[in-house]
Parts: sequence; structure tokens; C-alpha cells
Amino acid sequence: MTTAASVDPAAELVRKRYNRVARFYDLEQALGERLLFERLRRQLWERVPRQATVLEVGVGTGINMRHYPPDARITAIDISEAMLARAQARAQRLNLAVELAQMDAQRLEFADDSFDAVVATFVFCSVPDPVAGLQEARRVLRPGGQLLLLEHVRSENALAGKLMDWLNPLIVRLAGANINRRTVENVRLAGLDDLRVSSRLLNIVKLIEARKTSP
Ligand SMILES: C[S@@+](CC[C@H](N)C(=O)[O-])C[C@H]1O[C@@H](n2cnc3c(N)ncnc32)[C@H](O)[C@@H]1O
Repeated sequence: MTTAASVDPAAELVRKRYNRVARFYDLEQALGERLLFERLRRQLWERVPRQATVLEVGVGTGINMRHYPPDARITAIDISEAMLARAQARAQRLNLAVELAQMDAQRLEFADDSFDAVVATFVFCSVPDPVAGLQEARRVLRPGGQLLLLEHVRSENALAGKLMDWLNPLIVRLAGANINRRTVENVRLAGLDDLRVSSRLLNIVKLIEARKTSP
């Protein structure tokens, strides 16, 4: 596993927060995973093409690893070394060959056009500048490559959306994640096209698929 310190102060705060919560993360997620998210993760990973080179951004403790296609070549990054340590232990338990590295999603250290697919689940709610992170995802995708996201987003319901805006500063302070991100719009702003979006949980959880259609 390669390591590097982040230099962006906002990303540094995220790194420290996830370092603090890493040991509780899987336990906190367990119920939601069992009831809902495990199925959505499986649906997302089923869309990754066979034998693809894949970058997982914000791998966390590696909850997605059990869904990795067996013939894919996977590189996975995260800003938090404590989350990455857990991901590495999980990869060993599952006997997976995953290239893990500590890196900021906003400044990926990969060449342009490096991957067939970029995947992230529940990450762009906490990346400080989500459009910058998505632009980086686009840059490292080869032309024709696929972005796959599973994210919670701001509600499209006017009242619920306003409530989320109002609550967001408190949630960011408590949990570090923004609950009012407009991630579908952000994917478009980052220059990705061919969007396909399926919605779950009152339209708040989205499975987003997009492509890099031009160089
Ligand atoms: C809510 S957790 C999701 C983890 C995992 N993807 C999952 O589905 O369980 C968010 C993860 O994104 C990582 N993260 C947040 N901002 C990041 C950034 N700028 N660059 C890389 N990773 C980041 C955090 O360290 C954390 O591991």
C-alpha cells in the first residue's frame, strides 16, 4: 500500500475524521447494509464490464470488495490511512489482489485515460470539492470509460430539500458528510455524459452511471 499526506486543509479534516471512526465504521453500517445497501452495491458492480481496469475512489474499509468482479484489475484509493488499513486486512481475508493507495480524490496521481471504470460509493458527500473530484475521475477514465456511483443526494422534493439544506451544517459537524449534495448535477458539471440514474429510498439514494464520451 502506498501512502501520502493530503495537502488540502478541507481534505485533511476529512482524513482525520475517518481515521477516528474507522474502527467503528463496519459496525455502524451493518444494519443499513443488510437491509438495503448490499443489494445496491451488487447491482452497481454487476455493471462493471468483464476484465476491466477499475479505480475505486474512497474504498473505505473495503465493503465493496466482496462484489469485485473476479477478473477485474482493481486499484483502490482513500484519503484515510486507518480506513485503508482495514481495507487491506479485508483484501487479505478475501484473498484479493487489490492495489491500495492513500490519495485525495481531488488530486489523483494517475495518468489520463488509465481506467475502464471508476467506481465510488457514498464518497462524494464528503469530498470537499465534489466537482473537482468528479473531474479527476473523468480525467483518469479512458474515452468511452464508465463512472459508477452510489450516493445519497439532496431530495428533489422542495420541502425535504430545504430541510436537508437547513440540517446540513449540523450533519457535517456530527458525521462529516453533506446530506444536500446535488451529485447528479455535479457529474454533468464535471463533463461526463450519457447519464443513467436510478433512484431508491424516496429518491435520496441514487445509482448513477455516466460515461466519458470525449477525450
Ligand atoms: C462514507 S465512507 C464510504 C466508504 C466506502 N466507499 C463504502 O461504501 O463503505 C467515505 C469514504 O470516502 C473517503 N474520502 C472522503 N473524502 C475523500 C477524498 N477527498 N479522497 C479520497 N477519499 C476520500 C473517506 O476517507 C471514507 O473512507
